[in-house]
Amino acid sequence: MPLWVDTDMGFDDLMAIFLLQQAGLKIDGLSLVAGNAPIEQVTRNAIAAAGCFGWSWPIHRGAAHPIRAEPETAAAILGETGMQSAGRQLPIPDNAAMMILSQTNAIDALSVWLDDLESPATILALGPLTNIAEFSKAHPDLTGEISQLVWMGGSAGAGNHTPHAEFNAYVDPEAVDIVLNAGLPLRMVGLDVCRTVTMVPEDGAELRVATGKQADLLANLLEGYIQIATSRGRETMAVYDPTAAAAIADPDAVGFIPAHMRIHPTGTEKRGMTEIDFSSQNRSNMMLATQVDNIRVRSLTLQALQAEAER
Ligand code: BDR
Ligand code: CA
Repeated sequence: MPLWVDTDMGFDDLMAIFLLQQAGLKIDGLSLVAGNAPIEQVTRNAIAAAGCFGWSWPIHRGAAHPIRAEPETAAAILGETGMQSAGRQLPIPDNAAMMILSQTNAIDALSVWLDDLESPATILALGPLTNIAEFSKAHPDLTGEISQLVWMGGSAGAGNHTPHAEFNAYVDPEAVDIVLNAGLPLRMVGLDVCRTVTMVPEDGAELRVATGKQADLLANLLEGYIQIATSRGRETMAVYDPTAAAAIADPDAVGFIPAHMRIHPTGTEKRGMTEIDFSSQNRSNMMLATQVDNIRVRSLTLQALQAEAER
């Protein structure tokens, strides 16, 4: 299955990539988008991760700004790096390490990749949909090559960045609107279903005793990730991006229904709210994840982390 990942490179994005790899899926390319952090930091995170975890696929820089909205990051929750840690952090890549960043931007790279394919493509989008929207505007002739666009974003219930909106949807609502109007085969794995998959502090214990080169780094990053919840008085942390990855790696683990969605635009009180109309399935414009085998997705995520920590 030709597979591409578009990401804003937080820790749950990283876990999602591990999950795909652990399932034996080959990633053809990675495109980066501003989201959790500004694009410069997202790029540093991706290049550092490539060095630490031996990634060999091309990495392409993408959009620095949403289509219309002012840039918004998750720094208030994730810190300036977009990847909170309880100790060791991803290294800061030096100039030599940064040389692995492709000179081709995300939009051009996506179009070359899709143009060359002989079978339908899967794109996993783990951040704001800016790159995908810009791509669909620039290359409407190639969107038919995409058989599924699985996106972690939006919510069929409450939000997390605001009471109404999930973070990835809030950052670039106009991109979501463009993707919906372009008729891309959107399969949305929203906040409400991702929140049923959880991790607890004890989940880091096995990583701590793993013997691989990056075990300590992964244990610290996982602990930092879970502290996002525990430092705010919650006992469990939701597993966002890996749930969307599981919808590709193990399709039986995530169930979808056709639905109709609209998104509230920038500049309105409910900016980024993904409003789902369940009553109009005969005029659906997307597929909405409504069921998740949360035990299975949790276990796939932890197994993938453990495998990386043992390498
Ligand atoms: C989403 O926002 C980001 O902070 C996470 O990486 C995930 O993609 C959850 O709302
Ligand atoms: Ca993300």
